[in-house]
Amino acid sequence: MPQSVTDQTLQSLADWWRAMGVDVTLPAAGPAATDGPPGLPAAPAEGPGPLKPRRSARAAISPEAHIETARQLSTSAADMMALKAAIEGFDGCPLKELCDRTVVFDGVIGAPVMVIGEGPGEQEDMTGRPFVGKAGQLLDKMLSAIGLDRKTNAFITNVNYWRPPDNRNPEPEELAICRPFVERMVDLNQPKLILAMGGVAAKSLLETRTGIMRLRGHEAVFTTPAGTSVPLIPMFHPAYLLRRPQDKSRSWRDLLLAKARLEALGVIL
Ligand code: URA
Repeated sequence: MPQSVTDQTLQSLADWWRAMGVDVTLPAAGPAATDGPPGLPAAPAEGPGPLKPRRSARAAISPEAHIETARQLSTSAADMMALKAAIEGFDGCPLKELCDRTVVFDGVIGAPVMVIGEGPGEQEDMTGRPFVGKAGQLLDKMLSAIGLDRKTNAFITNVNYWRPPDNRNPEPEELAICRPFVERMVDLNQPKLILAMGGVAAKSLLETRTGIMRLRGHEAVFTTPAGTSVPLIPMFHPAYLLRRPQDKSRSWRDLLLAKARLEALGVIL
């Protein structure tokens, strides 16, 4: 559990679960239990003992309660490493049970450009890093074409941190559970520009049903509940471009749009 998760946070989480009808107790100091509640990371040995739900199945908790837990954990995370630890310890997304690893981010914390994709695939689930498979290699080439690179000026993440079975699209409920973490990541990183890769990421971030074919080519804005507002450029997903290379010219125009926007924002690439 990140150290920034305080007793007060645990108390308000317990209050929330009780309001949701889940019977939880906050144990007094003593040996730490190992089975924390759904959605909460396990407590460190010397910290306050974890909450102990009497009904422990994750599915017994409503999605709204998991979203609220994600929100509280996100708010408590004072920096990116605390947020990463909070996401890794969070058990509230059903996809987590079905994959091997939590994939949070790669690249430079605080970079001017934040690339946000759909979620981990097989290679990402094996390595714990986003965009490392074939689509990731194409993404690196696309970024490099406009002077971006995950080692120097780009931060790479997803709207969902766990590989869905058979690489299906994440469900709206799964995305909603991850959203507080995504928003907090934007608050903490304060990027100058977001590149949303593919329809799933763009639609989820912009909370729209409009597809990527209509979204791409136009700048939008991503705003967090905390008030961070960042220009967002929707782009084709590199996996789509691998299937439809004839659309690479449209993607190239989108990359030039991103480059021009960064120059206008005073970002030197
Ligand atoms: N596709 C994505 O959207 N994200 C990844 O991390 C990998 C593939």
